[in-house]
Amino acid sequence: MKYQIAVIPGDGIGPEIVREAKKVLDKVGQVYGHEFEYTEVLMGGVSIDAYGVPLTEEALETARKSDSVLLGAVGGNVGNSRWYDVAPNLRPEAGLLAIRKGLNLFANIRPAYLYQELAEACPLKKEIIGDGFDMVIMRELTGGLYFGERYTKEVDGVMTAVDTLTYNENEIRRIAVKAFDIAMKRRKKVTSVDKANVLDSSRLWRKVVEEVAKDYLEVTLTHMLVDNCAMQLVMNPGQFDVILTENMFGDILSDEASMITGSIGMLSSASMNESKFGMYEPSHGSAPDIAGKDIANPIATILSAAMMLRYSFDLDQEADAVEAAVKKVLSQGARTADIWSEGCEKVSTTQMGDRIAECIE
Ligand code: IPM
Ligand code: MG
Repeated sequence: MKYQIAVIPGDGIGPEIVREAKKVLDKVGQVYGHEFEYTEVLMGGVSIDAYGVPLTEEALETARKSDSVLLGAVGGNVGNSRWYDVAPNLRPEAGLLAIRKGLNLFANIRPAYLYQELAEACPLKKEIIGDGFDMVIMRELTGGLYFGERYTKEVDGVMTAVDTLTYNENEIRRIAVKAFDIAMKRRKKVTSVDKANVLDSSRLWRKVVEEVAKDYLEVTLTHMLVDNCAMQLVMNPGQFDVILTENMFGDILSDEASMITGSIGMLSSASMNESKFGMYEPSHGSAPDIAGKDIANPIATILSAAMMLRYSFDLDQEADAVEAAVKKVLSQGARTADIWSEGCEKVSTTQMGDRIAECIE
């Protein structure tokens, strides 16, 4: 079969990691008889440099018309790049938010599990890691603080900045349904994370999640406050199956979850709308400090491409093959710098992509 993929390399290490993911997809195509056709789209800093805006209408349209989107990362050094001191809607990250909103990608799925091979790279003690962990963070992606009204102005002679956090019940319900659906295919546990001891939006969140839970009697629902969740993730990560949470909390908790997998370079993600359409990107950023050095870890992007095969194209066998290839290469001892430990072989971004592609069978 033929699939049209919009590819957004973006900034920093984006082009390097996306190149490796395409390499792996092409190998999947060869072995399983599919054709992946790529249309390159500019977004983020590179789009600002070319067109003055982080995402053009045409770029959004190309993404919308494709079968799915593969994204590297966008953005420069925070506080210290030519793209930082501009109006908020003209920053690289605004392109990312605009494409998420423009394609209605409200459900962000971030799986975090520990490869036994990477136990050495996990910063937690062995007794805490136990038998490892395998969780999915279901992050709401098109609402909350990221999309509320925001401004900075002088109020009574004092500079004042305002961000607003809004959720309506429909936005909460649709992400909750996705989380429960995924839980049904896993260990049937949902931990809904909020700050209901302080925030109104969290109280509504809890209420709606409880309503949704009534349709999933087999799933065990627990509520957890976000500060407690941050602590539980490093105290007892094995307790989590599906974590359901709003946009900002999900952003923070997914970075934390990624680190206990050994490296943020391991965490893939899928951002989906109501249908099978999705945008697939690593959970990490553009890491401008290591860009162009061929040392970034491409695994999160490669695993994101595997999620694309599974969720958008229903190619489960092919997705399994990519995941198995990653596991095999790790068991052979190949490691990029971020996950390297004594006794392993240090490989570059390109080599890691080559090795994984070679192992696709
Ligand atoms: C992520 C990133 C983005 C986010 C940034 C780059 C805007 O951190 O995908 O987690 O905060 O959503
Ligand atoms: Mg983040």
